[in-house]
Amino acid sequence: MNLFYLEEVESTNKYAKENIKDLADKTVVYTSNQTAGRGRLERKWSYLGENNIYASIVLKPSKEMKEVYSNLTQYLCLILSETFEEYGVKPRIKWPNDIQINGKKISGILAEGCIASNSLEGLVLGFGVNLNCEEKLLKEINQPATALNIETGMEIDKEKFLKTLLDKFCLMYDRFIEEGFLLIKEDYIKRAGFLNKEVTVRVFDKTITGIAKDITDNGALKLVDKDENGHVLLIGDIL
Ligand code: BTN
Repeated sequence: MNLFYLEEVESTNKYAKENIKDLADKTVVYTSNQTAGRGRLERKWSYLGENNIYASIVLKPSKEMKEVYSNLTQYLCLILSETFEEYGVKPRIKWPNDIQINGKKISGILAEGCIASNSLEGLVLGFGVNLNCEEKLLKEINQPATALNIETGMEIDKEKFLKTLLDKFCLMYDRFIEEGFLLIKEDYIKRAGFLNKEVTVRVFDKTITGIAKDITDNGALKLVDKDENGHVLLIGDIL
């Protein structure tokens, strides 16, 4: 992978999208100072200091959109989980791609596509990881959040974490694009913290509440609501 470091930027996703034409496939744009980070559901992603990860992977797998590309966030989510596990912690995935440790968010992913005149210019997989942060700062976030230094009791080497993560990402990437979600389904489900629990999912401006029953072969969430109606959700966020 090509690493592209920016001393300061509003948002690595925004930068990658604006410069997509000039960025090669498998370039990682990252910064130590993200001044206006963005999250899913129109949320912002807080800046927690320079020893945390703010990065976006630029991918250009083909000119046409394929269904499997929408599962890339789940692929990255699994790779992030496996990287956390190397530090002896137990990450849990919240469908489709949030990661929690002990019920608190430690990482988030924001995927965006760049499409121009019906052709896919590239995909931008943005991710933030809380690696080193004071508890006081985390309390200011509007949802329970944690950081790897708090969970392990030791300072985390940011460059080492990023290298492990990107090496793992590359290892199975080509196969994942070929074979799709099924390749990782079992490993993803092993880490799913939401199955057989009641969840509320936001899909655009609607919410659906029900018991999360399963994940399908293409990564969708199967829900059964209180009236016993089944739902298969390809997009959305567990709240
Ligand atoms: C979420 O959980 O809501 C997704 C958060 C994604 C944050 C990362 S930080 C690097 C990249 N640049 C952004 O502006 N957002 C993503």
